[in-house]
Amino acid sequence: MAKQRVEFRCDECGGSAPRWSGKCPSCGAWNSLHEAPVVPASAQPIPRLDAAVPIDQVDMAAWGASPTGIGELDRVLSGGLVPGSVTVVGGEPGVGKSTLLTQAAASMARAGRRVLYVSAEESSQQVRMRADRLDALVPELWLAAETDLGHVVAQLDAVQPAVAIVDSIQTLHDPVLGSAPGSVVQVRECAHRLVREAKERGVAVLLVGHVTKDGGLAGPRVLEHVVDTVLAFEGDNHHALRLVRAVKHRFGSTNEVGLFEMGDAGLIPVPDASALFLADRRPGVAGSTVVAAIDGHRPLLIEVQALTIGSSLAVPRLSAQGLDSGRLAFLLAVLERRTDVSIAKHDVYALAVGGARVVEPGADLALALAVTSSCVDSALADDLVACAEVGLGGELRQVGQTSRRLAEAARLGFRRVLLPHSAPDPPDGLTALRAATIADAIALAGLAL
Ligand code: TYD
Ligand code: MG
Repeated sequence: MAKQRVEFRCDECGGSAPRWSGKCPSCGAWNSLHEAPVVPASAQPIPRLDAAVPIDQVDMAAWGASPTGIGELDRVLSGGLVPGSVTVVGGEPGVGKSTLLTQAAASMARAGRRVLYVSAEESSQQVRMRADRLDALVPELWLAAETDLGHVVAQLDAVQPAVAIVDSIQTLHDPVLGSAPGSVVQVRECAHRLVREAKERGVAVLLVGHVTKDGGLAGPRVLEHVVDTVLAFEGDNHHALRLVRAVKHRFGSTNEVGLFEMGDAGLIPVPDASALFLADRRPGVAGSTVVAAIDGHRPLLIEVQALTIGSSLAVPRLSAQGLDSGRLAFLLAVLERRTDVSIAKHDVYALAVGGARVVEPGADLALALAVTSSCVDSALADDLVACAEVGLGGELRQVGQTSRRLAEAARLGFRRVLLPHSAPDPPDGLTALRAATIADAIALAGLAL
C-alpha cells in the first residue's frame, strides 16, 4: 500500500512546510507545526476560469440580497443574504447562535425559501424541540443531523435549498483528512469546500463558529479570509441583551449593530435600544448620568453610574463594568488635577447599566460627571445628557457623529446637553450648555463642589 504523504501544518495560520521546525516559516508562530496528511487534489479548490468582462457589464442580477425577515439581522447584513455568499456567525457558547439561526431559518422558510438546517452538534430531536419553542416548525425548513462533510454536500443535492445553515463549522469533519473535528485543517478544508458549494450552487450559506476566550474565531485565521461575512454575536449570560455586529462584510457597511433581547420565546428584536437602556432609570439619584454614545452608526443613550466611597485600602479599588477601566483611571486623574474634586483615597465603582458596553471616548464627560455627582452626593438633572471627550488638560473635545447622538437624545425627551464649544448645534428641543473644560462642565451641571 502506498504510504500516505505527510506535511507539517501550522495551527495559527494554516500554512504548510515540508519538514518540522520549531517556528512556522509562514507566520513565525512557535511550536505550531503539526504533522498532517497532504490533502488529496480532489479536496483542493478547483480553479474555474470565468471570462473577463468590461466592469460595467458585470452581471449584478444575482447579487440581490434577500431579507431574512429578522429586521435587526437584516440591518447588519445590509438588507439580507446574498445568494452564493458565506456568512460566519461567531459567538461564545450559550449566547444564542442556534436560537438566532433557527428563528432566521423559520422566517425565510415562511417566506417560501427552502432552508436546510444541518445540525452537527445536537440531535434532530433537540433541534426540533428548540424549534417548537420558537414557533419555527415550518414545512420549508428542512433538518439534517450530520457531522460528515460529504453527507452535508449530499444533503444539499437532495434538498436543493436556497439557504443552508451549518451548526457548527467546528463540529463538521471530512474523514479523508484524518485529523479530529475542530482542528485547523478540518475547519479550513470544510470551510473551503462549503464556500465552493455555495458559489457553485448559488446557495447562501450560514456557518456557526465558536470563538476562543479572547473573542477570535476558533480555528485558522484563513476561515475569516475565505468567507464573505463574519458576524459577531455578543452578550453576557447575566443580561438579556444581545448584539450582532459585522466584523467583516463584503456586501456592505460594518457599522451597523443589531440588538436583541433573549426571552422565553427566543430572541426579540430591540429596535428602540435607548428606551430599553433608560427604562429603569431612577430620577434624582447621585452618581447617575446619561451618555449619548454611538455604536457603529447607531446612536444609543446609555445610563452610566458611579459610586465613590472612602477607601480603607492602601491602593483604592477601581471597578469598571461595561466601561474601560483604563479610561476611568485616566478620568479620575484628570478630575483630581484639573478640578476641585478630590477623589484620591476613594474606592470608585462605575458601570454602564443593562449589560451595555461603552468604551468610546464620547462617554468621558458623562462618566466624569457621574463620579463627581457621587463624590459630592448631589444628583444631576434628569433632562441632561453629556457628549464630549476629555483631554489630559481637562479640556473638552468634540466627538464623532455628534449630530446623530443629539438627535437621539432629543427624540428621547432630553432637554439640555453639555457640549464642547466646537460641537455642532443641537436639534430643536435640546439646549446646548457649552463648556471649555471639565471644571466648567461641572459648574454648568449645577454640581456644587
Ligand atoms: P443557544 O441558541 O443554544 O446558544 P448557542 O447556540 O450560541 O450555544 O441558546 C443558548 C441559551 O439561550 C440557553 O442557555 C437557553 C437560552 N434560551 C432562552 O433563554 N430562550 C429561548 O427561547 C431559547 C431557545 C434559548
Ligand atoms: Mg448552538
